[in-house]
Amino acid sequence: MPLRSAQWYSGDDRNSYIHRAWMRRGTPADAFDRPQIAIANTASDLTPCNAHFDEVARSVAAGVWAAGGVPLNLPVVSLGETNVRPTAMLWRNLAAMATEEMLRANPVDGVVLLGGCDKTIPSLLMAAASVDLPALVVPGGPMLTGHFQGMPLGCGTDVWRLSEEVRAGTLTRASFLDSESSMIRSRGHCNTMGTASTMACMAEALGMTIPGTAGTPAADSRLLERAHASGALAVELVREDRRPGAVMTRASFLNAIVTLAAIGGSTNAVVHLLAIAGRLGVELSLDDFDRTGAGVPLLADLQPAGRHLMDDLFRAGGLRAVLHQVEDLLDPAARTVTGRPLTDYLGDAPIWDAGVIRPRTDPLLPDAGIAVLRGNLAPDGAVIKPAAASPELLRHRGRAIVFDSVEDLHTRLDSVDADENSVLVLRGCGPKGYPGMPEVGNLPLPAKLLAKGVRDMVRISDARMSGTAYGTVVLHVAPEAAAGGPLARVRTGDPIVLDVPGRTLRVDVPDADLAAREPVTTGFARPARGWEKLYVEHVQQADRGCDLDFLTGSSGSAVARESH
Ligand code: FES
Repeated sequence: MPLRSAQWYSGDDRNSYIHRAWMRRGTPADAFDRPQIAIANTASDLTPCNAHFDEVARSVAAGVWAAGGVPLNLPVVSLGETNVRPTAMLWRNLAAMATEEMLRANPVDGVVLLGGCDKTIPSLLMAAASVDLPALVVPGGPMLTGHFQGMPLGCGTDVWRLSEEVRAGTLTRASFLDSESSMIRSRGHCNTMGTASTMACMAEALGMTIPGTAGTPAADSRLLERAHASGALAVELVREDRRPGAVMTRASFLNAIVTLAAIGGSTNAVVHLLAIAGRLGVELSLDDFDRTGAGVPLLADLQPAGRHLMDDLFRAGGLRAVLHQVEDLLDPAARTVTGRPLTDYLGDAPIWDAGVIRPRTDPLLPDAGIAVLRGNLAPDGAVIKPAAASPELLRHRGRAIVFDSVEDLHTRLDSVDADENSVLVLRGCGPKGYPGMPEVGNLPLPAKLLAKGVRDMVRISDARMSGTAYGTVVLHVAPEAAAGGPLARVRTGDPIVLDVPGRTLRVDVPDADLAAREPVTTGFARPARGWEKLYVEHVQQADRGCDLDFLTGSSGSAVARESH
């Protein structure tokens, strides 16, 4: 089959001359007859978790050359979770769109995707799915564990914990600030099972990495070895015309959902997997997460659900060792980028430390799937991660304390009349209401309750939650308040009934009374221009993955007409 890039480089006319002349750069004479492999590189000084990717890209490039291809570094939109305001999620679809269009616009036959920090792997996979060129991912890997006062620090998770300790008066502010320089020990992304680690594991479970790559620490030389092998495999993918649409099938997504439960992964994976599936036209719904995740045991004892960190997981056998334990729940029909099924790679995956990866016979939790709740408060669904919640709160009835926005929350949190049984409700933070759907769903607790020793309460919102956070937190309520969802009609004092085993979330107010109430419409964003306006006008709700309505589906890799 002729290479896609031949539509730029072959021939003896003026246009092929132009394409070749500018790209010769001292390359071998036959360079234009070889597979052209883009390295979609999210390296950026403003994305500290991905700052090491130029070195990774050099290993990928060496692998591409070694296999007979030509590597092409392609810097793409990068999103640094801790820096980008208001929230990196506002730009995930922009990053995906820009990458998709640059891949389609250029003389590229295949692509290696370098992502790490939370939104970068999802956006790259969405792009690769829509352009459907041969592709694979090299996840950038987690950082090494930092320590403070003799204790390991889970980045993200321990920031939340330590800052709550300061608010509770059990840690001095000086000690808190002292821990800052210990938090990020090395290159790499957050070392908890937060969104970045989760999405690296999702990429592998979907079949989009060389099996055994996800979770390799960023500072480990084996990551560069994998990068080299991935570059070589990208050339093979082009030669065999193996595309993302053939790898990321429904069977692969169901495998990813099993994986998500077994590792105790981030709730953010729900919106990202739905969005990637939407690009491929793979049927996947919120209910698949509940159905397929049900009964999957939690095996990885990692923060935020557990105790350890990502380099412990790698040392203990890595993702393959986890998946080996649940192999019978995985679909052997799902193939990876290597052409072989994911399950082919699990036979020789022992557990080296059963304190980190629990055997199937001794799980941390017997049922770790993400639960999907419905009811008059969330007609289109809401999610909760029971593994990160307090078991005694999974069935709960309490009085709502409602906040209309993040600003309202910050102003009033410590003065509201709440007790430990209250249910904190935050609205106006969904994809449209606070564009990008920020990670504010794990509302802080009122200081007076913290001082009493309360460490968890039921919290409900249309927001997302950081993958590094924990608690009895109901998220992604759909439709959101700004889209006319019932959340806009809840009032402080209403009884809220949460029943996770029963999969319901209700406000105990007669439906007619609820419908008769005037919905709150203040506090929602109404951007006047630019990306934010486009986003708010076109973003879909969380149960559809928060993709823009006009970006779902695929445009493929057809080459556009010449302009010169
Ligand atoms: Fe980048 Fe956590 S801030 S992964």
